[in-house]
Amino acid sequence: MTPVLELTGVAARYRGARTDVVSGISLAVRPGESLALVGESGAGKTTLLRLLLGLARPTAGEVRFDGAPLAPRDREQMRRFRRGVQCVFQDPYSSLDPRRRVGAIVAEPLRSLGLDSRAGAAPKVAAALEGVGLPADAAERYPHEFSGGQRQRIAIARATVCDPRVLLADEPVSALDVTTRVKVVELLAELKRERGLTLVMVSHDLSVVASLCERTAVLEHGRIVEQGTTAQVLGAPGHPYTRRLLDSVPRLP
Ligand SMILES: Nc1ncnc2c1ncn2[C@@H]1O[C@H](COP(=O)(O)OP(=O)(O)O)[C@@H](O)[C@H]1O
Ligand SMILES: [Mg+2]
Repeated sequence: MTPVLELTGVAARYRGARTDVVSGISLAVRPGESLALVGESGAGKTTLLRLLLGLARPTAGEVRFDGAPLAPRDREQMRRFRRGVQCVFQDPYSSLDPRRRVGAIVAEPLRSLGLDSRAGAAPKVAAALEGVGLPADAAERYPHEFSGGQRQRIAIARATVCDPRVLLADEPVSALDVTTRVKVVELLAELKRERGLTLVMVSHDLSVVASLCERTAVLEHGRIVEQGTTAQVLGAPGHPYTRRLLDSVPRLP
């Protein structure tokens, strides 16, 4: 099956920097599959997600969407891309505009894609809110009226309202307390199961990775040191860096 997203020999560098932050990255995400990107802080996980989202441009190699190189000037492709690939960020406090009602926030992708008029969006927004376990009247309220976990649900509703094929999530539960974290992970698992959503998730929480993602890629200093099924990578790590990551997970005595 053609990967929905693929990086081939990708490198990236921030403006003014003298070295690449990621390099030699090749990975493929196939439809319906879920991939976790793990590694220490600063390893380049967010940079990889930004490349996959088309928010950062590679300095070498290629980002492919449905088998074709991502071309920001190709309006038709960008439209399919923005409709098909959505994302959720780490911090549910800074990612939602505090001055806008939840209904307008969740409807935003529909508007920017020109999929719906203001009135036509309402039922889709209500369905998206219901899909993440929030009451329909949440649409009339403002983000500050919600807890961190509920805000992350709002962000997930926004990301799923246009029925994307792929959801990219950057540490989607790290800012949440433990019990809320479990519930949001369950919600992501449900979206994956029931809608066949393809998931690419950055997480430093290896138990979240183990429960949600079939595949795992391990990033160290901007390079993938190991990738494969999560069972293989976390169960029988082949690289010393992965073993160190696993050893750093606190265990109950
Ligand atoms: N906007 C930026 N400008 C310059 N350097 C950056 C920027 N964002 C990240 N970096 C650097 O790139 C490296 C990888 O960062 P990042 O992709 O955010 O890692 P991770 O998400 O794994 O913590 C780090 O060394 C970081 O300091
Ligand atoms: Mg990051």
